Amino acid sequence: MKKFIPTFLLCFATCLCLSVGWAQPVPAQVSKDDSLYLALGQKTGITQLSDEFVTRLVADKRLAPFFEKTNLPNFKLQLADQFCAVSGGPCVYKGADMKSAHANFDIAKADFNALVEVLQQAMDAKGISFRAQNRLLALLAPMHREVITVQ
Ligand code: HEM
Repeated sequence: MKKFIPTFLLCFATCLCLSVGWAQPVPAQVSKDDSLYLALGQKTGITQLSDEFVTRLVADKRLAPFFEKTNLPNFKLQLADQFCAVSGGPCVYKGADMKSAHANFDIAKADFNALVEVLQQAMDAKGISFRAQNRLLALLAPMHREVITVQ
């Protein structure tokens, strides 16, 4: 009987702990890192960046020919959603995947570099910090595999 009481109490306490969840691991909070999205000025800042970027793209002699038939207002919206989504913002990019979107164009590495240069100038013009610029470019850079179609 002397042995039974402590064993019974131990079992009872263990069952109580398990039933109220004390012994269960607390699930980690899955929170998305939206620091880049904030540094880009959230949706308003990103929309303004997209406008600035597209205005500069179509004014650039190297790049303008690619966008002759593009619906520019829609292109701006797609870009803004994409930048918002990749930077950790609450947007969903619903445009074409990068391979399909660029498949019908002859895009070389030099064209890709020219577009990155114009994006940097647009970000400078919008007062985006150097660190945020580099973070966005680092996220977009791997897309060169889907975007560049000619050697
Ligand atoms: C990381 C680099 C790039 C990103 C993130 C990007 C992103 C995008 C996005 C989001 C769209 C819209 C797709 C849609 O409407 O569903 C698009 C379309 C387009 N992109 Fe890019 N792009 C990149 C590089 C380039 C380059 C280097 C060129 C050419 C020099 C280019 C030319 C175009 C053209 C012409 C369209 C419009 C296609 C159409 O009229 O339907 N892109 N791009």
